[in-house]
Amino acid sequence: MDKVLVVGSLNMDFAVYMDRRPQAGETVMARSMKLVPGGKGANQAYALGKLGAKTSMIGAVGTDTFGEQMLANLEKVAVATKGIQKIAGTETGKAFIEIENSGQNSISVIAGANAAVDEGLVLAQEELFAQADAVVMQLEIPVPSVVAAARLAKKHGKTVVLDPAPARADLPDELWAQVDITKPNETELALLTGLPTGTEAEVVAAAKALIAKGVKNVLVTLGGDGTMLVTEDKVEKFPAYKVKAVDTTAAGDCFLAAFISQFTGSNFAEAIDFGAKASAIAVTRQGAQTSIPTVEEVENFH
Ligand code: RIB
Repeated sequence: MDKVLVVGSLNMDFAVYMDRRPQAGETVMARSMKLVPGGKGANQAYALGKLGAKTSMIGAVGTDTFGEQMLANLEKVAVATKGIQKIAGTETGKAFIEIENSGQNSISVIAGANAAVDEGLVLAQEELFAQADAVVMQLEIPVPSVVAAARLAKKHGKTVVLDPAPARADLPDELWAQVDITKPNETELALLTGLPTGTEAEVVAAAKALIAKGVKNVLVTLGGDGTMLVTEDKVEKFPAYKVKAVDTTAAGDCFLAAFISQFTGSNFAEAIDFGAKASAIAVTRQGAQTSIPTVEEVENFH
């Protein structure tokens, strides 16, 4: 897709690195902390921009330094930020991320200005919808705004992409009916559908439950087991690349953005492979937007 609009969140990430994450009631000593631009929406917009798609974003930041830093980072990769509002009296969203040596993480998000992305803010940017080929959304802004964005995207005949994260069980059927491509991992798929996803057969059955609601293509990311594409009439699996992960933050954002940057409407295998390579590189680097590779790095990866 050449022109992409991202409607979603921007967070400053407080990334804390430690040997292992604490259990309930436990205190552990961490090694270091980094402030890194993040947020699922901003990560996807940043990755799309860095990978060469003409990208714009709708969202909101506060009138604080973090907001300025978030906008500046997106602009570095030529993302158009005119659809990102600065909300007076609000703080930019923040995410607190604990990352252990295996690269696995736990994330808590304070929505801040992301909560101010209401339907009015989205609808006021109709012109950005008209200019895009695809509209990409996640679930870190209010759900009614995601539904309004999907409706507007469809009104303009655009490809609707939903990253259903953070996953929740109460998404309206109207939203699913508009979605052309969604990308849950197995855990999110279970949460979204209320169905088990412990085996491949269960993953297919749960993905089919979304197809029954009107979704055209479900891309289930299976970590080291690759990606499964489920549509009404086919199920296909694509391999992952084995690497030593140091930080999995934004790996899914990177995968989705890299996939969309290459997707032409039918070349699933090629675009998924590009996404798998890009996210394999991303997990070997610390941070969210700091981990996104260039096109050359992805093309030279093997
Ligand atoms: O997907 C990773 C992102 O989730 C982080 O950058 C954090 O901000 C949270 O939104």
